Amino acid sequence: MARIAVVTGGSRGIGEAISLKLQEEGVTVVANYAGNDEKAREFTDRTGIAAMKWDVGDHQACLDHCARIAEEFGPIDIVVNNAGITRDGTLARMSFDDWQDVMRVNLGGCFNMAKATFGGMVERGWGRIVNIGSINGQAGQYGQVNYAAAKSGIHGFTKALAQEGAKKGVTVNAIAPGYIDTDMVAAVPAPVLEKIVAKIPVGRLGQADEIARGVAFLCSENAGFVTGSTMSINGGQHMY
Ligand code: CAA
Repeated sequence: MARIAVVTGGSRGIGEAISLKLQEEGVTVVANYAGNDEKAREFTDRTGIAAMKWDVGDHQACLDHCARIAEEFGPIDIVVNNAGITRDGTLARMSFDDWQDVMRVNLGGCFNMAKATFGGMVERGWGRIVNIGSINGQAGQYGQVNYAAAKSGIHGFTKALAQEGAKKGVTVNAIAPGYIDTDMVAAVPAPVLEKIVAKIPVGRLGQADEIARGVAFLCSENAGFVTGSTMSINGGQHMY
C-alpha cells in the first residue's frame, strides 16, 4: 500500500517540488497550504495532489487536519515540515510580531505537526519526518534574527526528536537549503541578492527540485540508518 505523506507549504516553491517528487516515488501526498487558494486549486488540477488549507502555526488546526487526513487517506507515514515565512529586517526595525510570526510558523509548525503524527508512526513502527531548515539557521544572516533563530531551532528539534524515534523505526532528519530560486528568495532586494549569489561557489541559485531529491532520499526505505542528520544543499555556500 502506498505511503501517505503530508507536505506543509506543499503547493508552491520548494514544497511543490517535494510534493511532486514524493508522488513520483509512489507516495500518496496531501499538500498543506496557508494562503493562496487560487494557486492551490491550480496545483491540484495540474497534479492530482489534494491541497488542504490550514495554518501550521495553529496547534489545534494541525491536530484536526492530520486526523482528517488519516481518516480520508490512511495513517500518515511521512511528514515534511517545509512551511516557512520570512519577516526580514535588522533588529532595530524588527517588531515583536515579526519575531513571533516567524517562530510560530517556522518552528512551532514542526512541533505541531510532530505532535499530530509522531505517536502514530511510533505505534506502527515506521515513519519519516523531514524538517526544512536553512543555511541561515546554520550560519546566521544579516536581517534575519527571527528566521535564523527559528531555523536553527529546527536543527536542534530534529536531533532531539531523532533520538526519541530511533528505536521505533521513525527517522527524523533535516535539510538545510541554501538560496533556492523561489518567490521567497526573489523577494530579497536585487542588489543584496546579487552579492549573495556572488558568494555561492557553484555560481547560481539552487533549484527547488534539487532540494526535493534530497527529501525523497530521506523518506525512502533506503534511508533507515540516516537519522538526526542535516543534509546541506547549498551550492557550497556554507561548508563546515
Ligand atoms: N552584512 C553586513 N552589512 C550588511 C549586510 C550584510 N550581509 N547587508 C546589508 N548590510 C548593511 C548595508 O551595507 C547598509 O550599510 P550602510 O547603511 O552603512 O550603507 C546597511 O546594512 C543597511 O542595508 P540595507 O540598505 O539593505 O537595509 P534595509 O533596512 O533596507 O534592509 C534587510 C535590511 C531587510 C535585512 C535587507 O538587507 C535584506 O533583505 N537582506 C537580505 C536578507 C536575506 O538574505 N534574507 C533571506 C531571505 S530568503 C530565505 O530566507 C531562504 C533561505 O532559507 C536561504
